[in-house]
Amino acid sequence: MDITILGIESSCDDTSAAIVRNTTLLSSVIASQAVHERYGGVIPELASRAHQQNIVPVVDTALKDAGITIDKVDAIAFTRGPGLVGSLMVGTSFAKGLALAHNIPLVEVNHLHGHILAPFVDMPDRECEHPDFPYLSLLVSGGHTQIVRVESPFEMHIVGTTIDDAAGEALDKCAKVMGLPYPGGPVIDRLAKEGRADAFHFAKPRVGEFDFSFSGLKTSFLYTLRDRMAENPDFIEQNKADLCASLLDTVVDILATRLVSAAKHFHIKDIAIGGGVAANSLLRSRIADECKRRGWRCFLPELRFTTDNAAMIAIAGRYKYLKEEFSTLDAAPIARYEELL
Ligand code: KG4
Ligand code: ZN
Repeated sequence: MDITILGIESSCDDTSAAIVRNTTLLSSVIASQAVHERYGGVIPELASRAHQQNIVPVVDTALKDAGITIDKVDAIAFTRGPGLVGSLMVGTSFAKGLALAHNIPLVEVNHLHGHILAPFVDMPDRECEHPDFPYLSLLVSGGHTQIVRVESPFEMHIVGTTIDDAAGEALDKCAKVMGLPYPGGPVIDRLAKEGRADAFHFAKPRVGEFDFSFSGLKTSFLYTLRDRMAENPDFIEQNKADLCASLLDTVVDILATRLVSAAKHFHIKDIAIGGGVAANSLLRSRIADECKRRGWRCFLPELRFTTDNAAMIAIAGRYKYLKEEFSTLDAAPIARYEELL
C-alpha cells in the first residue's frame, strides 16, 4: 500500500513543505526569507513572522504540485527541533491544526535526523542509490558539525562533534568580517573558486581524533585581517578571493580528514554528507575524491536537499510512520538537540 507523507519544516529561516509517496518525492516547496539579509543574520522574531505568512501558501502549493488533496495524506511530519522556538512553533502549530481538522496522524521529526536521512529521497523519474546501514554521515549545518554513525533510521551515534563553533557558523562569521552578505557560506563558495587556496595559512585544531574546532581558525583569520589591514586598509578588498579560497580549503580539510579517519576506524565504506555546508562545491568534490580513491560509496544529496527542506523531514517521518511512532497534540517545540535525545 502506498504511504503519502506531508513534511513541514520551519526550524530556522526557510518555510518548507514537501510530499513523498513511499520514498518518491512528489513535490517540494521552499520559501526562503530574504528579510534577514539586511541584518547580516537571522532575526528570530522576523523569522517567526515570515513563517506565519508563508506556511499556508507553501503547504497549499506542495499539495497542488503533488496533484493531491489533504485527504490523501497518511501522516503529517513536522520538525519539532532543534531550531528557533518561535519558528518551530509556527510549523508545529500548523501541523497540529491540520492533523486535528482532517483526522490525520502526526509524526514529529528531529531536524538533524532529517539532514542525515536526506539520501533516502527518490526522484519521480529515477530511483536513487541509497546508503546501506551502518553508514557515516558528516552533518554540517549552520548550527552543527558532527560525524554520525547511522545504524538505522532510528539509531544514530555521534562519533565526533565540534567543541565550539559549527563549520557553517565559522564561514558565516568570517564572511561577515569581510563585509560579505549573509549567509556567507554560499558567497565564500563562489569567491573561493577565483582565489588561491595556498595564499594564506590559518590555524588548524588539535582536538580529539574525530572532533572539530573552528574557533581557533576563526581567531587566526580575524588576526590576519587585523594585522594586514593595519598595513593596508584595502587588504580585504584586494584579497577577497584568496582569503575565501584559503579559509574554505582549511575548513574542508578539517572536515574531510576527520571523516576519513572515522570511516577507516569503523571500517565503514558508505559515506554521506548533509546540512547546508554539504552544498559546498569544494567539500563535495573533496569527499567524492576521498571516497573514489578508496573504493567507498559517496552519497551527496542534491543541493536543494542539503540546506533546510521539508523533503528530508517527510522521508524521516515516513520511517516513524511505518514504526507507528506517532506524536501527540501536546508536542511542543524543542530548541536544543540534547533535549531531543
Ligand atoms: O542546514 P542549513 O540550511 O541550516 C541549519 O540547519 O543550520 O545550514 C545553513 C548553513 C549556513 O552556515 C550557510 O552559510 C551554509 O549552511 N551554506 C554553505 C553553502 N550553502 C549553505 N556553506 C558553504 N557553501 C555553500 N554552498
Ligand atoms: Zn538544517
